[in-house]
Amino acid sequence: MVKKLFFCDWILLCQLWLAAVVCSENHGNPTNDLVDIINKNRTAQKLPQLNDSPGLGCMALQYVELCKGNCSNNNAVNCKPPEDDFTEVFAPNCGVELPTFGTITGHIVGCQSKYMEPSLAFSHVLVKDKKTLSILRNKSHTEVGVGLVGFHKGPFFWCVLFSDGKTNSSFVLEDQGKGIKQKKGCFSGSAFPCNGVEQRTAVFLSYIITVGILIICHLNHNLID
Ligand SMILES: *[C@@H]1O[C@H](CO)[C@@H](O)[C@H](O)[C@H]1NC(C)=O
Ligand SMILES: *[C@@H]1O[C@H](CO)[C@@H](O)[C@H](O)[C@H]1NC(C)=O
Ligand SMILES: *[C@@H]1O[C@H](CO)[C@@H](O)[C@H](O)[C@H]1NC(C)=O
Ligand SMILES: *[C@@H]1O[C@H](CO)[C@@H](O)[C@H](O)[C@H]1NC(C)=O
Repeated sequence: MVKKLFFCDWILLCQLWLAAVVCSENHGNPTNDLVDIINKNRTAQKLPQLNDSPGLGCMALQYVELCKGNCSNNNAVNCKPPEDDFTEVFAPNCGVELPTFGTITGHIVGCQSKYMEPSLAFSHVLVKDKKTLSILRNKSHTEVGVGLVGFHKGPFFWCVLFSDGKTNSSFVLEDQGKGIKQKKGCFSGSAFPCNGVEQRTAVFLSYIITVGILIICHLNHNLID
């Protein structure tokens, strides 16, 4: 009897802890975390930090939104949007002011079937070989933007865009830097919260399980009493 109660309490505590962890992780915008990870990796090599550009980030989101059907088994994105799409589709969809459109000096794209924390996505999905690491550590870059899009059952797509533009004067978003609200996904430096269902489902599920355990434990308890 004591053992049983103890077991129930223990499971309950675990559930609450899990819910709290998922909640706290869900709190932020994972694309901002990825920008921090990129900058930490660069500064460890004595390279300058990159400015977080929401304009670039939003276009990175557009990029993966377009490529979302093309995730291969080995986490590669087999997709190459036409160059013109950047100025003709991505920029207008984001509200990037065209005269401020700069040069994109590099991009890294990756996908995986399940959601991964930004640090894992960085090392397992985006920067997992020498080629991508050299793109990350290119001295030409001054700015970075990250986009993420995911669906209920995955896959999740990440895109990192780099540019050599001047801080605050390239890829400027209209409406005082807010740009156009995106229906899906997230991007770094965004004024809007992430628009993804993925993690909320996990929290919801965790609550349901917790409540379920509570009810079962109480029923058992009352029966024995
Ligand atoms: C996605 O993959 C399909 C099949 O390989 C290809 O035909 C299509 O052009 C790709 N989409 C993009 C946007 O590149
Ligand atoms: C860095 O990026 C620039 C612009 O894309 C490119 O021309 C140059 O070759 C890259 N440098 C290295 C070392 O990869
Ligand atoms: C930077 O990223 C590379 C590739 O994921 C990794 O091997 C390296 O340890 C990282 N460096 C630091 C200082 O985190
Ligand atoms: C760029 O914008 C950021 C945020 O609005 C601001 O904190 C920063 O001082 C600006 N930098 C320059 C060089 O204007």
